[in-house]
Amino acid sequence: MTDQRQGVEALNYSSYLALDEVLTAQRPRSAEHDEMLFIVIHQVYELWFKQLLHELRHLQDKLTAGETTHSLHTLHRALTIFKVVVAQIDVLETMTPRQFTSFRTRLDASSGFQSAQFRLLEAVFGRRDPGVLSYYAEGSAERAALAEQLALPSLYDSFLRYLTEHGYPIPAALVERDVREPARPSTEVQQALLAVYHDDQGPAQVAERLVDLDEGLQEWRYRHVKMVERTIGDKSGTGGSSGAAYLRGTTFTPVFPDLWAVRSQL
Ligand code: HEM
Repeated sequence: MTDQRQGVEALNYSSYLALDEVLTAQRPRSAEHDEMLFIVIHQVYELWFKQLLHELRHLQDKLTAGETTHSLHTLHRALTIFKVVVAQIDVLETMTPRQFTSFRTRLDASSGFQSAQFRLLEAVFGRRDPGVLSYYAEGSAERAALAEQLALPSLYDSFLRYLTEHGYPIPAALVERDVREPARPSTEVQQALLAVYHDDQGPAQVAERLVDLDEGLQEWRYRHVKMVERTIGDKSGTGGSSGAAYLRGTTFTPVFPDLWAVRSQL
């Protein structure tokens, strides 16, 4: 439909959501029935990863400004998305090993291993491994975005700044640290966290929601590796790793070790 006054196409549901692009982006490489589910679920994940990045960067801004209410609101949303992304593994688990094998060779070397948005999420959470840059071609947009993210403060850095804003004694050397380096567990931060939990105010709630987020990522890794074990067993991954054995090595590693270290003293 044309808007007569402005001579431009009037916006409608389909054009606003760019459905002509979104719904023509599913291009199976085989005639196998189950490949469509495999493509759709990965695309849905990438959309959720995009939204999570959007929310977590917002969260970092709110934490840095010392804002408790907005931080908690954004954390609640991010956590709810995490529940959805963990739960949707159930859908993929309706695909049997034989159904997956029917088209697996058509994936060539493509793998979730190469998901640039997942690597961005890990970087926001604080992973500092410049080795991940090598998964992306020199000069590619993915590599540039990842390099940029690896040089920005992580969510944990933003949390330390938030605690400082609320008067907790985080050493300046940590608040001003070189954020390109991984954050190390710190007894000073753990002491401050004990005070946070003792006071039991807004900062304690923020800390608890960050533990939820950490647990959410570990939950996703656990569900993903179990799905991999039941779908391909011990076969190596299309991305070139040992498969489930590699993935088992990435599970149960906390992203905020200080928040876990204090639990036995609370
Ligand atoms: C039948 C379904 C799936 C199988 C068999 C599978 C298999 C694997 C394997 C074997 C790896 C290790 C890397 C490699 O390929 O060598 C891997 C990594 C990965 N997969 Fe999947 N995957 C499946 C579904 C998904 C879905 C739906 C997502 C969502 C985006 C996903 C995201 C990832 C990510 C982010 C990694 C990297 C993990 C890390 O390095 O810590 N996978 N997958």
